[in-house]
Amino acid sequence: TAAGVTAVAYPNIALVKYWGKRDEQWGLPVTGSLSMTLDCFPTTTRVAPAPGARADRVIINGQTAEGAARVRRFLDLVRTLADRPEPAMVESVNAGPTAAGLASSAAGFAALAAAAASAYGLRLDGRALSRLARRGSGSACRSVFGGFVQWHAGTADGPAGDAGSYAEPVPVGAVEPALVVAMTDTGSKAVPSREAMRRTLATSPLYRAWAESSQDDLCRLRSALRQGDLGTVGEIAEHNALGMHATMLAARPAIRYLSGASLAVLDQVASLRAGGVLAYATIDAGPNVVVLCARDDAPRVAAALGEVDQVRSVHVAGPGPGVAIRQG
Ligand code: DP6
Repeated sequence: TAAGVTAVAYPNIALVKYWGKRDEQWGLPVTGSLSMTLDCFPTTTRVAPAPGARADRVIINGQTAEGAARVRRFLDLVRTLADRPEPAMVESVNAGPTAAGLASSAAGFAALAAAAASAYGLRLDGRALSRLARRGSGSACRSVFGGFVQWHAGTADGPAGDAGSYAEPVPVGAVEPALVVAMTDTGSKAVPSREAMRRTLATSPLYRAWAESSQDDLCRLRSALRQGDLGTVGEIAEHNALGMHATMLAARPAIRYLSGASLAVLDQVASLRAGGVLAYATIDAGPNVVVLCARDDAPRVAAALGEVDQVRSVHVAGPGPGVAIRQG
């Protein structure tokens, strides 16, 4: 077979969320967002062009994949850009719980973008790679980089908007943060986030207000990160995430990712704060809760979250690396 390329990427958790596309075809978001890339649950993906094959073969976690159609569409994009027609063999292994709201699509499409671009001979810098990954899954553009990463919404729509909507690392002051993941449920989510975003934009009267206040959150988050003010970082993150869930609760029909377990964890986070511990929660399109705290407090926070009845497992993550490539 032709030379294969393997890439490893890590999930990211947004502190100011991406929720809603202004252009679905080009994957252009309504708002900018800002995340931390984690140092756990990597996805490792190998792409090998297979000139003799009749079609792409996609294997995820050892099985012929359900999400293969989305992977094939992404490979078509890479083939068009590279002007090379041959199908590919794709093998991907995800070290974390898939589709449980822990951004597995972010690590997945960041690794796929890097491996496929390199295997098909596209030479892309980090910014161009983030724009490519964005076409696979919006949040994937942020996993191209390590640490804290901002995804710029850009302004123009359609093909003209593509160049302006990229991710880049954000400068941070002296912060030593941890994200403590409280897994409440490892089952698949009820409504896929893609569809949930669409419904929120189309029906929620709260959406515009959230999108507007998100700009402000982003601006304030950047400066809190620069100043190393972890308390303000956390306060903004919790505010932004709960606001995002409010937009969904007000959609028709309502979209509710928050479970009783999520609320029990939010209560525990509030009592940690009442006890003087810096701890703030964020929640993606699922019931799991991710808690931002100082690295030194992580064992204490993890123990407290583990005490909540409905919490199945707790994982402590630090800032992780951007996508990396190896030949072979
Ligand atoms: C709630 O990036 O999975 O995690 O672009 O449709 O693939 P698509 O959506 P996706 O959405 C992530 C939404 C979120 C918030 C975030 O990560 O910013």
